[in-house]
Amino acid sequence: MKLSRWTWLELTGIALIGAIVLLLININQRKREARDTFVEVVKLTEDTVEPADWGRNFPREYDGFKRTREMQATKYGGSVPFSHLDKDPRLKRMFAGYAFELEYNKARGHAWSLQDQDNTRRTKERPQPGSCLQCHASILPAYRKAGGGDVFKGFEIIAAMPFHEARKLVDHAIACLDCHDPKTMQLRVTRPAFLYAIKALKKSQGVENYDPNTMASRQEMRTYVCGQCHVEYYFAGEHKIVTYPWAQGLKVEQIEAYYDRISFSDWKHGETGAPVLKAQHPEFETYSQGIHARSGVACADCHMPYQRQGAMKISDHNVRSPLLDIERSCLTCHPFPASEMKARVEAIQDRHAALLSRAEDALVALIGDIKAAGGAPDAALQFQRKAQWRVDFVNAENSMGFHAPQESARILAEAIDYARQGQLAALTARRAASGGQAYLGR
Ligand code: HEC
Ligand code: HEC
Ligand code: HEC
Ligand code: HEC
Ligand code: HEC
Repeated sequence: MKLSRWTWLELTGIALIGAIVLLLININQRKREARDTFVEVVKLTEDTVEPADWGRNFPREYDGFKRTREMQATKYGGSVPFSHLDKDPRLKRMFAGYAFELEYNKARGHAWSLQDQDNTRRTKERPQPGSCLQCHASILPAYRKAGGGDVFKGFEIIAAMPFHEARKLVDHAIACLDCHDPKTMQLRVTRPAFLYAIKALKKSQGVENYDPNTMASRQEMRTYVCGQCHVEYYFAGEHKIVTYPWAQGLKVEQIEAYYDRISFSDWKHGETGAPVLKAQHPEFETYSQGIHARSGVACADCHMPYQRQGAMKISDHNVRSPLLDIERSCLTCHPFPASEMKARVEAIQDRHAALLSRAEDALVALIGDIKAAGGAPDAALQFQRKAQWRVDFVNAENSMGFHAPQESARILAEAIDYARQGQLAALTARRAASGGQAYLGR
């Protein structure tokens, strides 16, 4: 059969109209999907700790959140746990006499945070305070209850309790409640130690009464929610209140000046007796010195990138190494293939690892020389404190240099210099004691 020209036109017209109708239906569906992001199945309150309950309202975010249980390694990071001490025995000497010489592992995803704390020899074999739980448990309701409605009061009460007693008051690892307001789903910061410290930091910069929950921009909150826990801390006073030492600034020497001012040391070194400091996971502090912070890129931009699901854009709640999803984590801003971005990161990390290794060698050499000198002068012990603080600050930071490459290299260069100065001070003392018979390395 041969169709006339008119019939062709009619058929094309009908097909076109059909396509438009389908498109409209599709748009409408997508709009509805976008509108229906939030179906309130469960009424969430300040006492809803269980993430599965939140998951009934927000199944997509909950799916990602649950996947923090998964384990996958990258060249230097990822979430497959291994013993840092076995991999790098120099750490055992650096931490001699401290709980970290017992067990220190590669961290893994948020779902494990409570279990891994329970199972470390650091809590099993050494007395620890309730303060440890601030960053490992969904602890807000417990604070409120202990404080008779006052979270800050409860925070101090639980901080001072023995770990195993405080542990009975919580039963969930990090949860939705820790980063979100249950009524509005807005991001919020809840950790008292963070709220006190950021206020002190802002005050040192001339801003009075800073409260991130009312004064921070949304983009800042996308970093602050992580800065609640991924930071350096110490336990202040006999009540062991977990405290972030930021009142003089976030840089390594500003934190050191804070500790020097209050004459704080975490422990006396097991081999030399030097009053030394232990750094822990200063991700927020280090990131703050890097180009991404300066450019307004937040932790969540790289670690919780957007994902498209139907018409919706959601944040990936499987918080993990960005190198496991470079397309979404980096290529939104950088116009290069994923393989190129990975190579750039690993080039930074390889250089950093080599410098870190040299700094550890220098510190271990200093420890050996102080020991050999017997009763080394205070100057040598002070150099050990300075070198140890810098090496450990960089070693305990979990990006292997990526968050702020140049700043991290600067810190390691200082560490090497202080360690070698310390060796000279120890040698000078040995020479004096031996009537000039001691030489470098002997
Ligand atoms: C520009 C992207 C970017 C930003 C912004 C960023 N990170 Fe990272 N982060 C990385 C990369 C890349 C690594 C290295 C991952 C690896 O080696 O597998 C990393 C590593 C980490 C790790 C260790 C992860 C692992 O798998 O071992 C933690 C923890 C971390 N970052 C936390 C933070 C926090 C907290 C912030 C904000 C204060 C932040 N990051 C900001 C890109 C970023
Ligand atoms: C300021 C928040 C904070 C406090 C307080 C805190 N932690 Fe952690 N902890 C973290 C973060 C963040 C990680 C993951 C990054 C890392 O391992 O460096 C972690 C990792 C760990 C790990 C797994 C890796 C490892 O070190 O073997 C253990 C175990 C642990 N912490 C035990 C403790 C103990 C014990 C205390 C109390 C002495 C404590 N934590 C106090 C934030 C905290
Ligand atoms: C309430 C405290 C807390 C908050 C808030 C928090 N973390 Fe963590 N984070 C931890 C602890 C504790 C661990 C270690 C868990 C373990 O090893 O058992 C950890 C582990 C990690 C890891 C390592 C897991 C892996 O797979 O490599 C990354 C990456 C990470 N956190 C990034 C972030 C980012 C990004 C944010 C903000 C969006 C954030 N964290 C918010 C406490 C916290
Ligand atoms: C470590 C902090 C953290 C935890 C824990 C967390 N979230 Fe989020 N969540 C974020 C961040 C950051 C965003 C991005 C918010 C923004 O950009 O304003 C977000 C966004 C959201 C959004 C808005 C839509 C989207 O995906 O961007 C929902 C809904 C949400 N989260 C639900 C949950 C649920 C449900 C849980 C628990 C199963 C949870 N979150 C746990 C940090 C967290
Ligand atoms: C939200 C945007 C954004 C995201 C996401 C982002 N970056 Fe960047 N990155 C920047 C900006 C802005 C700069 C500064 C240089 C510039 O202005 O071009 C930068 C600089 C860099 C540099 C040069 C660092 C230096 O010290 O000069 C590297 C390397 C880099 N990014 C890697 C990454 C990697 C890897 C990821 C993913 C894990 C990532 N970036 C994610 C915006 C981003």
